Amino acid sequence: MRHIVVTGGAGFIGSHCCVELLEAGDQVTILDNFCNSKPETLDRIAEIIGKRPDLVELDLCDEQATEQFFATHTVDAVIHFAGLKAVGESCQIPLTYYHNNLTGTLNLLRSMGAHGCKRLVFSSSATVYGMNNTAPFTEDMPTSATNPYGWTKQMIEQILMDTAASDPEWSFVALRYFNPIGAHPSGLIGEDPNGIPNNLVPYIAKVACGQLAHLNVFGNDYDTPDGTGVRDYIHVVDLAKGHLCALDYAETAAGFCAVNLGTGNGASVLEVLHAYEEACGKTLPYVIAPRRAGDIATSYADPSKAKTLLRWEAKSDLLTMCKDSWNFTLKHQ
Ligand code: NAD
Ligand code: UD1
Repeated sequence: MRHIVVTGGAGFIGSHCCVELLEAGDQVTILDNFCNSKPETLDRIAEIIGKRPDLVELDLCDEQATEQFFATHTVDAVIHFAGLKAVGESCQIPLTYYHNNLTGTLNLLRSMGAHGCKRLVFSSSATVYGMNNTAPFTEDMPTSATNPYGWTKQMIEQILMDTAASDPEWSFVALRYFNPIGAHPSGLIGEDPNGIPNNLVPYIAKVACGQLAHLNVFGNDYDTPDGTGVRDYIHVVDLAKGHLCALDYAETAAGFCAVNLGTGNGASVLEVLHAYEEACGKTLPYVIAPRRAGDIATSYADPSKAKTLLRWEAKSDLLTMCKDSWNFTLKHQ
């Protein structure tokens, strides 16, 4: 039985990944400080899978606590989700973002290295493709960032590359997620952001359950088929499964590698809205609003590297993603 540590395992993507790991028979320990999640999520994971992950409540920025954990546990590999992720907030409190995401990762890597655990799967983001590449995005394109959140992803990828170059025993897979949405089909775990959501699908979910009056569509004059922004939406369960494939790959390969996790298909804001209408059986009001600063017209993955290297590909279609989001929303409104 492998012992996998999941940092940020109580969060949206991490919790779905814990379900998949437990289902595969791995021993799972979550390290989380619950700054953006709740301990009850572990009860929900146990309800879904009949097994409970272990938990150590810990802030990765606490160097001593992180070191103490790795000094006292034998760990085969780490999946590193823990981080702050709101783009707008990262512009308001950049130092908090740099400290949390970078210091947390440095402490983690130092402690892992000191205790002989040298395999890590990292949550990167398609945000590293920046504003100047043309979709479909391939892993060899130049990367950049336009906000502090994006810079932390870019910088952590660089840190992993440099660490791998310094010691051939390390094995890193940076997974560049496109737009994860949906929820576990049980409706027990999913995404429930505090306050008014920034991201499209959580916002639509609140319109569908009547908590928000209408969707603001940020721009309908992009160079896309219907003028609204196009993204590569991926079911969070498909995404979670990709991490198990990445772990298997990391067992056989050393060094650093970056891999896209996306479907390869783009959907526009209006297409997502209409799929959600079908999922919830209601017409959902929207108004056209100005473009949002920092948005690009079109983002979608070339997912072929994941297919050949990790033997993984996304399965769910947009309607299934919206149905699972709605099922979760109905259970948690
Ligand atoms: P989330 O906020 O739901 O989960 C992150 C978890 O990390 C939370 O449980 C939080 O409490 C924990 N955490 C944060 N800082 C910590 C610290 N210093 N010590 C311990 N725990 C800490 O986010 P998510 O959507 O599940 O995203 C997971 C990862 O994937 C993040 O790194 C995020 O940047 C990345 N990512 C997410 C998306 C997305 O659309 N959700 C897209 C691309 C990349
Ligand atoms: C955003 C972040 C990205 C991050 C990702 C996941 C920005 C610029 N990018 O990606 O770095 O990795 O979230 O957290 O914030 N939209 C509307 N109305 C809304 C919300 C969104 O029209 O109320 C549109 C957007 O303009 C975009 C699409 O929906 O075209 C998707 O937006 P969103 O869900 O926020 O994801 P991204 O912008 O792709």
